[in-house]
Amino acid sequence: AMSGDDQLFADRAGALLTRVLAWPESVVHLRRVDSTQRLARRFAELLAKDDEIPLPTLFTAFEQTAGRGRLGNRWTSPAGEGVYSTWLIELPAMTAALPLRVGASLATALSGISPRPVRMKWPNDLWVDGAKVGGVLIETFLGGQGKTLAAVGLGLNLGLTAAEAIELRASSIYGLSWIDALSASSLAVQAVAESTDAPDLRSIERLLIHRRGETLRFKTAGRRIEGSYEGLDEIGRLRVGVAGGIESFASGEVIEA
Ligand code: BTN
Repeated sequence: AMSGDDQLFADRAGALLTRVLAWPESVVHLRRVDSTQRLARRFAELLAKDDEIPLPTLFTAFEQTAGRGRLGNRWTSPAGEGVYSTWLIELPAMTAALPLRVGASLATALSGISPRPVRMKWPNDLWVDGAKVGGVLIETFLGGQGKTLAAVGLGLNLGLTAAEAIELRASSIYGLSWIDALSASSLAVQAVAESTDAPDLRSIERLLIHRRGETLRFKTAGRRIEGSYEGLDEIGRLRVGVAGGIESFASGEVIEA
């Protein structure tokens, strides 16, 4: 249960952010939560029952005690050191390559305000100067009234300490304020949520840190593969050149050398 103080913070901060952010209209901001991704899902379950939850809604927190990453990983979310946010939206009309498009939209928006360019590691990790600074987790589920909902989660490091960065083998976008990062990210998610255009995979490819022909180590469903990076296919899958030809992968992780 929330203390009176936390409740007051949540009410004030939510109301303030709702006014400051151009999108979405409804914002829930907590000092501390287990995971904004879980919070969004709990709200979606309520929505399925009584239609009380406005959509889209942004759930955000200063600190997460059990942040979740892709592929069962944890997302370390120290208080005040990053953006920990989930946008609960209706699944957009255009779903092709959605995870890639969300990552690309975020990388482009954040690059515009970050002191250093933000690139992307397939499928949607955010990278600055050779290290991961952010990640995206997208989950879809039924929300009642025949709606399919998507919880679009973003974890973005802004101020990891040197020790944390070493321990996590990650970095931060240093020099960017929380509110600027959150507003830019919100607009980037909105652009994808409202887009009806087919993805432009060639421009997404240009944001990637991978270069055609370079050696790639890749992990998927218990398999480890080494091959050459051969770009993306027409639905955004990773193409890897191996002895037998080209294999395309829809999910997995590129392992750093
Ligand atoms: C990744 O593994 O790279 C994705 C990380 C996603 C983390 C964000 S933080 C806000 C939201 N809540 C969570 O528990 N996870 C996502």
